[in-house]
Amino acid sequence: MRYRYLGLQKKAVAVILGIESSCDETSASLCINGKVINNEIASQAIHEQYGGVVPELASREHQRNIVPVVDHVLTHANINVKDLDGIAYTRGPGLLGALLIGSSFAKSMAASLNIPLIPIHHMKAHVLAHFIDDPKPSYPFICLTVSGGHTQILRVNSANEMIILGQTQDDAVGEAFDKAAKLLGLPYPGGPLIDKLAKEGNPDRFQFTESEMPALDYSFSGIKTSILYFLRKEVRSNERFIEENINDLAASIQHTLIAMLMQKLEKAADQEGINQIAIAGGVSANSGLRNRLKEVAEERKWRVYIPDFQYCTDNAGMIAISGHLLYEKEAFGALNDSPLPRMPF
Ligand code: KG4
Ligand code: ZN
Repeated sequence: MRYRYLGLQKKAVAVILGIESSCDETSASLCINGKVINNEIASQAIHEQYGGVVPELASREHQRNIVPVVDHVLTHANINVKDLDGIAYTRGPGLLGALLIGSSFAKSMAASLNIPLIPIHHMKAHVLAHFIDDPKPSYPFICLTVSGGHTQILRVNSANEMIILGQTQDDAVGEAFDKAAKLLGLPYPGGPLIDKLAKEGNPDRFQFTESEMPALDYSFSGIKTSILYFLRKEVRSNERFIEENINDLAASIQHTLIAMLMQKLEKAADQEGINQIAIAGGVSANSGLRNRLKEVAEERKWRVYIPDFQYCTDNAGMIAISGHLLYEKEAFGALNDSPLPRMPF
C-alpha cells in the first residue's frame, strides 16, 4: 500500500507525532520543524512486583495508555490532528505485543489523515536523541549505546547510516546492572538503584572477574556469575554481608561495568580516529558512566555528548526527532509494514 504516499510531498515546516511502545513506557511527543516541544511518558509500575517486564501486562498497559498520552501532547501543544504532517512510530526491536499497540495506532491515524507513516528503529532513535538539544554532534561520531536489551559501539555516519563496530555477545550492560541488583535483593529495574547506592560506596573495595572479548565486542554474562559466587561465599560466613556492605558492593559492581564499557569505547575512538563521542540508551543515565566519560574526555581531548536524563531511557522525543530527520529524506513506510521484534540494524 506504499502507493498511498506517492502523491505526498514533504512540507517545509513539518509537524511530526512520535509514538514509542517497544517495552514498558507508552510515550508520545511532537516535533515541529525539528524542535521537540513535548515528551509525555506513561511508565508501567505494574512490572515491579514481578522483577521484570511481563510482556502480556505491558501490552494491556499500552492499550490503556496510548489514547490519553497522544491526546495529552496534542491538546497541550494546541495542535489539531489535521495539523499533523507525519507519524513516526517504533517498528522494532522490542516486545511484539507492545509494538503492535503503537504500530496499529500509528497506522490507523496515518491512514485516516492520509499522511506519511515513518517507521523507526528503536536503537537508532536512542542515538538520534542527540539531535534534540544543542550542542548537536556532527557526522561522523561514535556512539556507545547502552540499554536493557543492547550494548553497541556505533560509528554514526548519518541519520540512517550507522555501522556496528562492536557489541555484546550475550547480556546487555543494562541487564547486567539489573541482574546484579537482583542478587543484592533490590527491586526491578535495579540499574538506577545501584547508581544511587554507589554514590555512598567505595568502588575499589571488591573485585569481580571481567570477561575478555576480542576486538570491540563485550560479554557481560560472566560478571553476573562472578558476583553470584562471591556473594554466596560471603553470605555463608555472614548472612548480613549484603546489607552491611550494600553501598560498597553497588559501587564496586558499577565501577567494574563502567571500566569494561570505557576500555572498548577508547579503543573504538582510536581505531576510527574520531574524537566526537556520544552515549545513549537507558544506562547513559548512570552518573558514574557520565562522570567517567567526562574525565576521559579531558584526558583524550574528546568532545562528548551526553543526553538530558529524560532522553536517556525510553521516550517518544527520540522517535519524533528521528521521524523529523527521516521525513526530510522522505523515508516513508507502508501501511502493511508489520512490527519487527528483532528489527535488523
Ligand atoms: O533504554 P532503556 O530505557 O530501555 C531499553 O530499551 O532497554 O534502558 C533500560 C535499562 C535498564 O536495564 C535500567 O536498569 C538501565 O537502563 N538504567 C540504568 C540507569 N537508568 C536506567 N542503569 C544504570 N544506572 C542508571 N542510572
Ligand atoms: Zn530503549
